[in-house]
Amino acid sequence: MRIGMLTGGGDCPGLNAVIRAAVRKGIWHHGDEFIGFMEGWRGVLDDRTMPLDLETTSGILQKGGTILRSSRTNVKKVEGGFERCVAVLKSHKLDALIAMGGDDTQSISVELSKRGVNCVGVPKTIDNDLSGTDACFGFDTAVTIATEAVDRLHSTTEAHSRVQVVEVMGRDAGWIAITAGIAGGADVTLVPEVPIDIDEVVRLLKARWESGKRFAIVVVSEGAKMPHIQGQVALGDKLDAFGHVRLSGIGQMLSEEIERRTGYETRSVNLGHTQRGGTPTAFDRMLATRYGVAAIDLVHAGRFGRLVVLKGSEISDIPLEDAIAKTRTVGEDLLEVLRGLQPPVKQL
Ligand code: F6P
Repeated sequence: MRIGMLTGGGDCPGLNAVIRAAVRKGIWHHGDEFIGFMEGWRGVLDDRTMPLDLETTSGILQKGGTILRSSRTNVKKVEGGFERCVAVLKSHKLDALIAMGGDDTQSISVELSKRGVNCVGVPKTIDNDLSGTDACFGFDTAVTIATEAVDRLHSTTEAHSRVQVVEVMGRDAGWIAITAGIAGGADVTLVPEVPIDIDEVVRLLKARWESGKRFAIVVVSEGAKMPHIQGQVALGDKLDAFGHVRLSGIGQMLSEEIERRTGYETRSVNLGHTQRGGTPTAFDRMLATRYGVAAIDLVHAGRFGRLVVLKGSEISDIPLEDAIAKTRTVGEDLLEVLRGLQPPVKQL
């Protein structure tokens, strides 16, 4: 078969591992030919490609980023965009297209499937917020980086008797914050699923100071909601092609508020794209490789319009539509774990 591949949306560690696994299984076990579209859907629209074979995909397993590059190109926003995509894909005589991406990228796969393109999706995002799968590759690496940052910040924060606020990514889902917060032993963890209660944050910090521990780490998700602020804290009001603002700044805003209300010296750090960079963890390499092999198997089973997913410890697949239907957010079970780790602090 002739199979196209692309990576769309924010990059994440593990994309190259998917590409490598799919190409190996496809070439060695099915005699497939591959073609890579550059920069996500932009490469399909502009017909910009690179050859994907055993040579070009060699030595990329442990590399972050994506050899296919990425972009947040939204075909829906391009006049005649879908027709152009279909024509380009046809001109390459493709039997199938494997798109790696989150909900935005897969929403284009859904539209192309309706127009007769044989699409298979692979769930990718450090935010871990795609429904229908228990895990997206890239998340484990992002959380590992964030947890290490929290670990490192402990010593300097303690040395200076400060409060250190750590802003992490995740958009509308608090998976990175709650996982790095719990794994890193943060004193306060704030996620988009629960509106921030500044009084409660202040009570928790004061209780910690009173217990003799005169430093604290606060992990806050970029998408968490500050009281008295409409919506989320963003850098300007520019939207990307899928209508998302650039979330950033809640950490600094929160740290100023904490310092004002407690008198404790407070600093903030925004981990930003550090969380998306560098080599994938062994877990992400493994998950990405399993997804890559599963995607090729789906193609050869003729099961199109589907997304490979992880359910428990098993790889399976679901309709693409189900994955983009709603954002998977942090559940009550994990929030309860978080509450269990915090001391009960009385309302003043
Ligand atoms: O969706 C992944 C993600 O890293 C989000 O956590 C973050 O809000 C966004 O992408 C940042 O996007 P960009 O790289 O376009 O600034």
